Amino acid sequence: MAKSCIPHLLVVFLSLAVSLAAATEPPTVYIFGDSTLDVGTNDLIPESEARADVLFNGIDFPYSESTGRFSNGLNAADEIVMLMGLKRSPPPFLRLVQNPSTFKKNILKGANFASGGSGILNTTGQYNYKRVISLEEQIQQFSTVRSNITNMTGSDAQTDAILSKAFFLISIGSNDMFEYLLNLTVPPSMSTPEFNTALVSTYENHLKSLYELGARTFGIITVPPIGCTPFARAVFSIPIYHNDSCYDPAQQLAQAFYSEAQALLEQLSSQVHDIQYSLANTFLMTNTMMEDMLAFGFKDISSACCGNGTYPCNQTATVCSNRDEYLFWDRFHPTQKASELAALTLFGGSEWLVAPKNFSQLLGVNI
Ligand SMILES: *[C@@H]1O[C@H](CO)[C@@H](O)[C@H](O)[C@H]1NC(C)=O
Ligand SMILES: *[C@@H]1O[C@H](CO)[C@@H](O)[C@H](O)[C@H]1NC(C)=O
Ligand SMILES: *[C@@H]1O[C@H](CO)[C@@H](O)[C@H](O)[C@H]1NC(C)=O
Ligand SMILES: *[C@@H]1O[C@H](CO)[C@@H](O)[C@H](O)[C@H]1NC(C)=O
Ligand SMILES: *[C@@H]1O[C@H](CO)[C@@H](O)[C@H](O)[C@H]1NC(C)=O
Ligand SMILES: *[C@@H]1O[C@H](CO)[C@@H](O)[C@H](O)[C@H]1NC(C)=O
Ligand SMILES: *[C@@H]1O[C@H](CO)[C@@H](O)[C@H](O)[C@H]1NC(C)=O
Ligand SMILES: *[C@@H]1O[C@H](CO)[C@@H](O)[C@H](O)[C@H]1NC(C)=O
Repeated sequence: MAKSCIPHLLVVFLSLAVSLAAATEPPTVYIFGDSTLDVGTNDLIPESEARADVLFNGIDFPYSESTGRFSNGLNAADEIVMLMGLKRSPPPFLRLVQNPSTFKKNILKGANFASGGSGILNTTGQYNYKRVISLEEQIQQFSTVRSNITNMTGSDAQTDAILSKAFFLISIGSNDMFEYLLNLTVPPSMSTPEFNTALVSTYENHLKSLYELGARTFGIITVPPIGCTPFARAVFSIPIYHNDSCYDPAQQLAQAFYSEAQALLEQLSSQVHDIQYSLANTFLMTNTMMEDMLAFGFKDISSACCGNGTYPCNQTATVCSNRDEYLFWDRFHPTQKASELAALTLFGGSEWLVAPKNFSQLLGVNI
């Protein structure tokens, strides 16, 4: 019963998004994570092999530009901040630093540190994709941003005041899990419970670092049902037409991560009373779309629109024409349509999908 309410809810929020955008001053947004939020960071790392700066990525972006987003158009970073009244995601930090004359003005509006292929663990992606920016290094970049802001304000207290009003959006974890399942993460001998513990305790350290650097308002996106991706289906031999069965060990890692993140954030917010957060159950959110795909307008929830489970999306891949009817753009990533629906759910979803508050409540936007 709850499920059938979702599409109606989404329609309501879709029509409200416009007035929401006009009514409120958009806050500063700092974005961290992996390819789900990367808007071109890896384009600026020549040796990185996790890239989306080639067509057919961006085929539905203005001028069919391949910006580095792993999407046919916009990605979740854009769709989320658009509901906050921004035009799209702030630019990659690595692009902002290239332009010293506008750097200081720009970082007060926000920056995107997310790097495709990266993970919670430092090692994730570094072997598989040659070079990515780990979450730890993204946070180090943010700490220079903090010092640059303090250089402008002249005092830590004023910087704290600015950052306490900023929104910190994070989406990461899938790559760590894939590399663990493929035995790419060292040490390969780690048991699943040991891996889960290592992942969540490292995540805890990252969140604490951000808190110490002034972050107070967090939007946290957990790991989707990665066992249902075209990649997992191909590698672990789950046929595409078995659209209701997925690779279970990957599903279990994703679900365990959500539960552990939930416990971690409850504990953290009882220790430090000045943080507020929304934790999205990305697993459940995406599962709901898959189980009720027609209600969300999808006709294919198991294959990639561009490329296939083993072949990446590039100009020699085949690309579908009805992109809004696919959940998956390529073997790992959602289509622009799926990201848009996810963003609407983050802002308008009930507590079983995003808790303890939804993004609208967290960010105090009146709708
Ligand atoms: C992770 O990498 C950073 C550099 O990016 C380094 O400062 C840090 O010590 C590393 N952490 C661990 C746990 O290896
Ligand atoms: C930002 O801060 C870093 C570290 O303090 C410094 O190296 C850099 O020059 C600063 N950038 C600007 C534009 O002030
Ligand atoms: C800001 O940085 C500039 C050079 O990067 C330095 O000369 C100046 O003293 C710094 N100001 C403050 C308040 O730290
Ligand atoms: C990874 O290693 C484990 C234990 O050695 C093995 O059971 C599993 O099949 C390996 N997985 C892959 C994808 O190679
Ligand atoms: C799987 O696909 C078939 C059509 O091919 C559809 O009827 C069915 O509802 C789908 N099942 C799920 C769980 O999406
Ligand atoms: C597309 O990807 C495949 C598989 O990685 C590769 O063999 C091919 O050269 C790529 N094509 C282009 C145009 O980059
Ligand atoms: C994936 O796509 C590539 C390039 O179009 C093709 O060569 C390959 O056969 C496809 N694989 C499958 C399993 O369909
Ligand atoms: C989401 O937040 C809004 C506040 O913006 C609230 O009115 C609404 O009830 C919440 N949605 C659900 C389903 O809890």
